[in-house]
Formats: sequence, structure tokens, C-alpha cells
Amino acid sequence: MAQVVIENVYKSFPHRQGGKIARLAAAASEVENAESETNSAVSVLRRINLTIQDGEFMVLVGPSGCGKSTLLRLIAGLETLTGGNIWVSDRLVNNLPPKQRDIAMVFQSYALYPHMTVYDNLAFGLRRAHRSAPSKPDSAAQLVPAPLPAWTKRALVRLTRSLPSGWQYWSDEEKAIAQRVTAVAQMLQIEPLLDRYPRQLSGGQKQRVALGRAMARDPQVFLMDEPLSNLDAKLRTETRTQIVNLQRKLGTTTVYVTHDQTEAMTMGDRIAVMNAGQIQQIASPLELYNRPANQFVAEFIGSPPMNFIPVQVKAPLLIQHPQFRLTLPENWVGALRPYDGRSLLLGIRPEHLSVSLPAPKTCLCAWNTSKPWAVRLT
Ligand SMILES: Nc1ncnc2c1ncn2[C@@H]1O[C@H](COP(=O)(O)OP(=O)(O)O)[C@@H](O)[C@H]1O
Ligand SMILES: [Mg+2]
Repeated sequence: MAQVVIENVYKSFPHRQGGKIARLAAAASEVENAESETNSAVSVLRRINLTIQDGEFMVLVGPSGCGKSTLLRLIAGLETLTGGNIWVSDRLVNNLPPKQRDIAMVFQSYALYPHMTVYDNLAFGLRRAHRSAPSKPDSAAQLVPAPLPAWTKRALVRLTRSLPSGWQYWSDEEKAIAQRVTAVAQMLQIEPLLDRYPRQLSGGQKQRVALGRAMARDPQVFLMDEPLSNLDAKLRTETRTQIVNLQRKLGTTTVYVTHDQTEAMTMGDRIAVMNAGQIQQIASPLELYNRPANQFVAEFIGSPPMNFIPVQVKAPLLIQHPQFRLTLPENWVGALRPYDGRSLLLGIRPEHLSVSLPAPKTCLCAWNTSKPWAVRLT
């Protein structure tokens, strides 16, 4: 298991110079600096600092295009850093290729190999890992005078795989892989699907196979990029719970990307809220909800969203709006003092308002209607 440290990470993508679309855009635009914009880089991530603890379930949430997938791809090694450092388990991985990072990623599109059965999809990463590891002699092979070379054994496994079970050749390596595949398939309840091809699976089943492929490798870190967004609402809710339970059971450090705040709030140990390439706040779901760091977080987290009302502050405790006045409780004196006479945005969650008559002191009161009414702040 591993801690992941992201330190001061920046990412820019170069504009494609002279590309057809860029040329058309420059030609269509009347803006004088179109040429220089076309030739500059696009900054996608800025000053990202995030530490994901060993075994933690960290959710990255934010609107589409804010840079979540790019950050995940940087951790996986599928993109190169423009600036900063990434450590996985105290190892600086900035320049390591993806397969040396011991990280498994689940993509939104599942990215299963269409020409392989579910079994082979699950076994693929394990076979590759065995291939790049130094070969160990087979216990069975030691019984014969000249042990078969590893590549011959693999070829025999492959060639005999479709034969009746008595005719199949199983190397020790393939036996270990089969054990792991079966264990993962049991955990995800996809054992009956092992002989099928991806085209013979439903969306939910494909999604479980994609998860299984990541789990089979027993990596140090799971990265999941919106893995549930192709599922229908009911299945999404069910699978959400399954993923959280599996993660707790395995204890594998996980970074999970979603644009859905409900998903983030129900799954994450902690959540990093992102907007326009920057992290806005990192906190537990409850803390994000109760103590949002800024208006973006306050608005993004919570459904229905928080109400925002422009008001004037009048020390010590009065806030005024053309439609109402509100006296806040005593403990607000210190917080309001610096804002005396200034305009602020009053943020109120919908569930903290209730209609009441007669009007108590801590209420938003409307005077311009024929019937007086009050909304009590709870
Ligand atoms: N290879 C790329 N070249 C240029 N721009 C890219 C590339 N990949 C992503 N972007 C841009 O980076 C921004 C963030 O993209 P992405 O990380 O996919 O966002 P998210 O996953 O939050 O929806 C987007 O504006 C996107 O167009
Ligand atoms: Mg994305």
C-alpha cells in the first residue's frame, strides 16, 4: 500500500501550431492577438498540492473540463508533468513509465480488450507482470531433465487453452494467475462471465470486469476516472456501495474522479474540490458541507444548492437587504466587525430555512407582500 504525494504540480498542453482548426480560429477571430494565443500553451493544472494517505479513498470532484482526468493521468504516468513532483510510496515517479509505477487505472470507457475473454482480460496484466519479472523455475519443470524455457511454456499454455481440460498445459505461473483471477471474479461476482467476450456483456458487467482487471494486479494505488458514468441511476448507486466496500476490504489507496457531487459525498474519506485547474478545498464530506472554503465550493456541494443573497452588514449584528433585515446571534459579532458597512453574500442552505408565523427575531421577513410572512433560519 502507498501514500501518494502531489507537490506543486503544473500541467500545460501546447497549442498545436498551424493546425487546421487553429488556423481557422485565428482567421475567423478579429482579435489582434489571435496569433500569439494560438502559439502559447494552455495551462490546465496549476499549483496542485495534495497528499493521499495510505489506504485512503480520495475523491476528485469538479465540473467537466476542470482538469480531473489530466491529474489522474499524470499520477498514472500517461501524461508528462510541466512542473512539480509526484511521489508514490516515497518513490519519485516523475520520470517512471506507467508500468513501473505499480498503479492500476479504471477508465470511464472500461477499455477492455475486445478480442479477449473476460478471463484473459483479467489475466492480461498478471501475465505481463510475470513476463517482466525474472523467471523462476517451475516445480513441475524441475522433475524433467531439461526444463522448458519460459517462452515455450507460455506458448504451450496459449496453444492448449481452448482444448478440453485434460489436454491443457498449465505452468506454475498460469496456475497462480488462475487462482488470482478466480479470487477476483468471486469478489466481484463475475465468475459466470469468465468465458464471455466484452461484446457479450452489459454495461454494468463490463464495468465490473474493468474493476476486476485493476484489482487482479493488486497494485499499490487504484485510479478510477468516472467509472460509473455509463451506468443507469440504479446500478450506479449499487455499484458505488460495492466499490467503497471493496476498497475498504482491500485497503488500497484510491483516487476516484467524478463530476457528481453526490457520488463524491457518499464515497470519499476526503474530497478535493477542483475548479478551473486548481484545488479549491480538500476536506471530509461533512467539513466541505458545513465549512466551505469559498463560494464555488459552497455552491457546488449540496443539492439543492445553497442560496446566495447580496446583503449589507451593519455592525454589530444586523444584515440588511431591500426585502428583509436579519439580526444574527451574538457569536457572529467578531466575524462581522471587519465588514461593517460593506456588501457581502449571505449563503443559506435550503434545509436551514423554514416558513414560520409569527415572525421570530432571527428571520427573513418580507414586507412588500399583502400577507406578512417570515422564513425562520434554523
Ligand atoms: N491532450 C490535450 N491537449 C490539449 N488540451 C487538453 C488535452 N487533454 C485535456 N485537455 C484540456 O484540459 C482541460 C482539462 O481536461 P480534463 O482533465 O479532461 O478535464 P475533466 O476530466 O475535469 O473533465 C480541458 O480544457 C481539456 O480540453
Ligand atoms: Mg475527465
